[in-house]
Amino acid sequence: MTRLLLEVSDVRAEALDVLLVELRAAGGGPLEPFEPGAHLEFELPNGLIRHYSLTNDWRERDRYVVGVGRAANGRGGSDFIHQSLRRGGRLTASAPRNNFALDPAAASYLFVAGGIGVTPIMSMVRRCAAEGRDWRLVYAARNAQRAAFYETLRAFGDRVHFHFDDQAGAVLDARRWLATRSEGQHVYCCGPQPLMRAVREGAAHYPPDCVHFEYFVGTAAKALAEAPAAGTGEGEFRVDLKRSKLSLVVPAELSILEVLEANGVKVPFSCREGLCRTCETTVCEGEVEHRDYVLSAAERAESKTMMVCVSRSRSAVLVLDR
Ligand code: FES
Repeated sequence: MTRLLLEVSDVRAEALDVLLVELRAAGGGPLEPFEPGAHLEFELPNGLIRHYSLTNDWRERDRYVVGVGRAANGRGGSDFIHQSLRRGGRLTASAPRNNFALDPAAASYLFVAGGIGVTPIMSMVRRCAAEGRDWRLVYAARNAQRAAFYETLRAFGDRVHFHFDDQAGAVLDARRWLATRSEGQHVYCCGPQPLMRAVREGAAHYPPDCVHFEYFVGTAAKALAEAPAAGTGEGEFRVDLKRSKLSLVVPAELSILEVLEANGVKVPFSCREGLCRTCETTVCEGEVEHRDYVLSAAERAESKTMMVCVSRSRSAVLVLDR
């Protein structure tokens, strides 16, 4: 796995509780290219692993710019960056990864962003604007002071609709924006779990491959009370970690292992395909949907352990010994 040593070349406030961090290759030189929607996985000096989306123009090869919101109930990732990161500091990160890529075949794009979820969408907006594509952005924030890139986005005129909860007296009604769909339109959504849930429901009439989500798994715990029963293991469910004392939502698009990693819970792994048993984890409660290739029929029936890289939950909550 490629690891990059990056140097902080600038840190500045972009909005209330939102910092923009500009990074360059330590020692100079070009960086690995990225596409809009990509993120970096950082190994913070305090030992935490965090993922931050790239916000800048995808054609820039000399810098990465990530936006970091201060999480109200975070576990030290955003706090570290807000309090301790300074110009000249160094960070180790992965090469850019992209689980939220723009589909070039889309006829048009409807972006729905909530709060700090605007960060991956900024690089998408830049791409669409540069290439003359048809796009709109609906951007919800608690108030204008917390809206990152407010001035930049205002310059796009009526392509961008701002929704501020304090002015509207209510949260964004995402379904209203999704009620009608033009042929070939794709939806891209990033924000708090309730917003993503509303978009998922509102876009139920879209073809599934036309609706895309980027999860900020570190904030997913806000949705615990709403986590539905997964049933088949295909959907979202909750994992409670006995030793770490964490409750985390595992979205349909992520594995348990990915969610644990994103929240700083170290789990040994190797294949990430259910083949090697390295990530085997003791199950304390819940019904597992086993998807590995290593457990015997008897072990599956007992279900005392599971491979968290591939297996999921049939019950709404799974309690693991981690
Ligand atoms: S990492 Fe190999 S089985 Fe999970």
